[in-house]
Amino acid sequence: MSDLDKINSIFNAKIDSVKNKEDLQNLKTEFFGKNGQITQQFKTLGTLEPDKRKDFAVNLNKIKDDLSNQIEQKSFEIENAEISDKLKNEKVDVTLPIRPYHQGKIHPVSQVIDEISSIFSEIGFTVAEGPDVETEYNNFTALNTPEDHPARDMHDTFYLEKNKKLLLRTHTSPVQIRAMLNGKPPFKIIVPGRTYRCDSDQTHAPMFHQLEGLHIDKNITMGHLKGCLDYFIKEFFEVKNVKMRFRPSHFPFTEPSAEVDIGYRIENEKIVIGEGNKWLEILGCGMVHPNVLKNAKVDPKKYQGFAFGMGIDRLAMLKYGINDLRAFFETDYRWLSHFGFDPLDVPTNYRGLSK
Ligand code: PHE
Repeated sequence: MSDLDKINSIFNAKIDSVKNKEDLQNLKTEFFGKNGQITQQFKTLGTLEPDKRKDFAVNLNKIKDDLSNQIEQKSFEIENAEISDKLKNEKVDVTLPIRPYHQGKIHPVSQVIDEISSIFSEIGFTVAEGPDVETEYNNFTALNTPEDHPARDMHDTFYLEKNKKLLLRTHTSPVQIRAMLNGKPPFKIIVPGRTYRCDSDQTHAPMFHQLEGLHIDKNITMGHLKGCLDYFIKEFFEVKNVKMRFRPSHFPFTEPSAEVDIGYRIENEKIVIGEGNKWLEILGCGMVHPNVLKNAKVDPKKYQGFAFGMGIDRLAMLKYGINDLRAFFETDYRWLSHFGFDPLDVPTNYRGLSK
């Protein structure tokens, strides 16, 4: 038997006992490694007589190809065996009972707060916040509200103590005071948040949401207030034209003060915002009273500006055709899945707010 035949029969005997990847690797090294049997044979080529060398090389290459093919075939078999082993042993029990999958929804109030924040951030407003439990001083006194003002009445305000020092804020305006005391002018903020009043019917809830706006700088006028609100209303309702009306009004913390109405009409039993001969009140506003600026340590001779406050729930009802405010706070899942928003549908001005 020639050397090559010997190598061949040794290999054939060994490959039958290969059981796993490790055995196969050892076999490969034994024949094709640096000092492997096949490798050794190649090294002898140079020492052979030229006439024998050719035949030997042909045979050697044949055996080399044959053995490598067998190794490859074996490797394939081992891998397949491993896969079927896994399939046999790692079963998934598809008979487990189904669990219903509910996708969460974003509440219309949260959605509208995100929309409003996006709209105002486009024109340089930042979002500020304050606590729901306020001092009477911030909620009323600092806002230039006289001691005997009806808004302070027990019937409207939830006082937390007998001496009336702490209360649930009745509006977001106290955050004007907090923001101004905490920084230096100019101020350009919006404040979304919960507010509380002792009131409950189809359009009033004891807890509701307001959005406050405050812009204080040098030379801010009522014209800026109008421009700002006009921009906001158009963006929010996603319409080109909005009829707006400023009605003289009174708030202790602004002078002059106004209430703003927007035009609307009813079409096919639905409310269409923008044009029409009906008016809807949507917010209160005015130029910040000098006393408020003084109380907040801002010099009214140097700085002035405007403030506004609007009901967020009301805006959400108008935009999304919801007619009972109480449903907002009843946590009825069916209501939320109808009026709620997709969690990943974050409003931006560029992509469209509600599309
Ligand atoms: N705080 C007022 C309210 O709750 C709204 C308002 C805010 C009016 C700011 C004027 C300026 O009705």
